[in-house]
Amino acid sequence: MNSDIEKVLVSEKEINEANERLGKDLTEEYSGKNPLFVCILRGAAMFMMDLIRHVDIPMEYDFMDVSSYGGENTDTTGDVKIVKDLDTSLKGRDVVIVEDIIDTGFTLDRLIKLFETREAKSIKIVSFLDKPARRIKQVHVDYIGVQIPDAFVVGYGMDYNEHYRNLPYVGVLKPEVYNAK
Ligand code: IMP
Repeated sequence: MNSDIEKVLVSEKEINEANERLGKDLTEEYSGKNPLFVCILRGAAMFMMDLIRHVDIPMEYDFMDVSSYGGENTDTTGDVKIVKDLDTSLKGRDVVIVEDIIDTGFTLDRLIKLFETREAKSIKIVSFLDKPARRIKQVHVDYIGVQIPDAFVVGYGMDYNEHYRNLPYVGVLKPEVYNAK
């Protein structure tokens, strides 16, 4: 699997440092508020589980699955579909959306609008990675782990065709891996 990776963009050490910093910031911001962390599956699962170990206040979490990429396409379609919805009501809740990466911004733009209609008290976003070069929808991301250049990345929960999610670091996939298809 490692041989399909061109280079490591975010190492395990950098991942841990980012999670510690973000966890501390979120602990301060949400102290006394019992926030609801909403993990956007499947990419953000690994990130959220690491992040919340550093969140030292009462909190709850739930999962939602949305898809914006169709199968083998590594470019966004702008089309966001709810695959699995939340079980928890957002009404009156302080919501923290936990994302793996913000790319074009379509997914988060759509989710914020949806969560507003569900009457959340507040909505903030924490995204592990930020790829600002490709932004189309201007979305305010409150907490960012690491900013990365415009490259298709895998690992630490992020996939190409459902593979590579289990890599413990974030890497750039060799272009020949997806060009070969
Ligand atoms: P956006 O709607 O374009 O901001 O895309 C957000 C979603 O696209 C993320 O939650 C990821 O699932 C996926 N995505 C965007 N860029 C990458 C990437 O470089 N590698 C893997 N998935 C990505």
